[in-house]
Amino acid sequence: MAAGLTCLLAFAVQGAGPPRTPADSPVLKDRNETPEQHDARMAWWREAKFGMFIHWSLFSQLGGEWKGKMSGGGYAEWIMYNEKISIADYAAVAKDFNPGKYDAEKWVMAAKNAGMKYMVITAKHHDGFAMFKSAASPFNMVDATPFKRDPLKELADACRKHGMKLGFYYSQNYDWHHPGGALNDWDPASKGDYDKYTDEIVIPQLREILKNYGDIAILWFDMGGGGAGQHERIHKAVMECNPKIITNNRLGGPFQGDTETPEQNIPANGLPGRDWETCMTMNGTWGYRKGDNGWKSTPDLLRNLCKIASKGGNYLLNVGPNELGEIPAGSLEHLAQVGEWMKVNGAVIYGTSASPFPHQLSWGWVTSKGNLLYICVDQLPADHKLTLPELTTRISKACFLADTKKQALAITTADNGIPTIAVPDPSPVSFGGNPAVIVAELTGGPVATILDFVFPGMPDAVISGNNIRVEVPKATDLTKLAPTYRTGSPLVKGTPASGSTNDFTKPLTYSITAADGSTRAYVVTVLPRLGAVSVANHSFEEFDFLNEYDETIGKNPPGATWTFKDGAEAGINHLKGPITAPPSPDGSQHTAHLRGAGSSFSQAINSDQGNYRLSFSAVKRSGYAPTPVPLTVTMDETVILKLESGQLGKEWGTFTTPAFPLTAGSHTLTFTLGKAEGDAMDLIDNVVITYCP
Ligand code: GLC
Repeated sequence: MAAGLTCLLAFAVQGAGPPRTPADSPVLKDRNETPEQHDARMAWWREAKFGMFIHWSLFSQLGGEWKGKMSGGGYAEWIMYNEKISIADYAAVAKDFNPGKYDAEKWVMAAKNAGMKYMVITAKHHDGFAMFKSAASPFNMVDATPFKRDPLKELADACRKHGMKLGFYYSQNYDWHHPGGALNDWDPASKGDYDKYTDEIVIPQLREILKNYGDIAILWFDMGGGGAGQHERIHKAVMECNPKIITNNRLGGPFQGDTETPEQNIPANGLPGRDWETCMTMNGTWGYRKGDNGWKSTPDLLRNLCKIASKGGNYLLNVGPNELGEIPAGSLEHLAQVGEWMKVNGAVIYGTSASPFPHQLSWGWVTSKGNLLYICVDQLPADHKLTLPELTTRISKACFLADTKKQALAITTADNGIPTIAVPDPSPVSFGGNPAVIVAELTGGPVATILDFVFPGMPDAVISGNNIRVEVPKATDLTKLAPTYRTGSPLVKGTPASGSTNDFTKPLTYSITAADGSTRAYVVTVLPRLGAVSVANHSFEEFDFLNEYDETIGKNPPGATWTFKDGAEAGINHLKGPITAPPSPDGSQHTAHLRGAGSSFSQAINSDQGNYRLSFSAVKRSGYAPTPVPLTVTMDETVILKLESGQLGKEWGTFTTPAFPLTAGSHTLTFTLGKAEGDAMDLIDNVVITYCP
């Protein structure tokens, strides 16, 4: 067991790994902490992984409706701003706010049964209304409403009773009610001094919420901003009240906060070296909006949870209780389903670290803990085989967490040491709905192997057994090739070193040695062939994620020299995400996408002198730009194909350029989107170059 543990840690070094704070992290400056002190303070939060966000305040009384009409776009909690409601009119709403169905214990149990370990509630949102008894402002739940109870006190008591951590959200900058608070430019009554607002409302209220409710675990600032000196005064006051409290990154000024808070998105590669928490709504709004029943499905919520954990983050999932104090039934139903799954599969989430692999799997996500690897299977491949292409540590046993019989899954190890888990048919668990989780115990290794071998800009190298072969254009200078390769672990080294320049006029031997002394020798043969040219990762399958929400481009896989430039947006997209388009013709799940004029992506290729054709598949993303825009394909500066309006349709088409000449040497292939009337988005896949003698 001890050996297994060492191995996993060894290979984990390469991925994002456990969230240990780097010694030079700017986060440490906030409180002058050592990495150890910081890690100790963050420990419970890193273990917890899953929390409930609660947006509940005076806006909940309105439910997105003002003067008998539903307020248009935007989040429901922004209604005062969106409808430019005067301070007096908005304050009058408090007279009706009497959430008689509020039962703090019910909320805590809903969170607890969903598998959540902490809650963060809006103590004061941008509307300036305090959900607690405040001596600093009468605009609070106890003094301004017929309810008269203090919901935060009741929630704090219920949390304490049920072992739930509690955090408070506090909007320290935007305040549309109190004079001096930021952003109210429609009601002259909001005019005032920002410093006075900070010192007489914000700081006293922060002291109240941090002192009057027992041990508060998190302070969730919002909306940064503010002027010189205020951040420091706020921070000082918070530290005086609770030096251990976890803060987020939204105070502003010189403060980093303990956590980054990506909103409604999952960062493509996580945020290595930083603690982070994606907050997300379950429907289209944070605060309660009547009739918004566009709930994310339970499988989607679970996918998000697994995906976030696999990238090393926490998930703060929002509920927006209504004017009566009830969490909407749609939220409760999904939370209960999430909880059922968590009871069985929670080990894949709690206390786990990010996937140790630098690349994303096409069929699921991975988290790790000690010598255990948790494998979330989202889409079971048709052949029922789950290969972990970057795992160079052996799996001693594996089974589904949900399989009551804990039937051992068959594992085969390829000749290069890479394991494949076979899911039996019939499978002990079902697929297609909620993700299914396999726990795999790792032992032995890392093995001496080469995972991929790349001659930049050249056709793909083929690894078969101990032979590596690659065909390159005839004109290539074989004496100066500098291939790169990966072994999957820093504990496996090779000679010649990756990236070193070598003479390939004759086959060359690469010797790979693992930490345990085991070795393996590969013979690399480079074969010059007239017209050999190819586009690396032409189906875009192996790119790092791939984010359905912020559509950020991740890292290029080895050998993929694609670069993406944004006019509005360019990257890789997942067709199973919210991207609406028919399945790609080659069945791949990922495609490149271009959105907005000037967005482009390009790749370097090497060729002989001669004629070539290029073909690719393309489609317009459904629901985008009624006016199609021209898509231009250029080789160096020369246009080799231009698709005009109308040529790209709702179904995938395959397009082939006329033959075009290339000189010997390196070239740049580029796809660029032209000017459009509307918002256009094209998806491109399967880019192939062929030599035509
Ligand atoms: C934004 C919004 C706000 C919401 C918050 C949650 O800052 O202004 O309404 O509370 O995000 O992250």
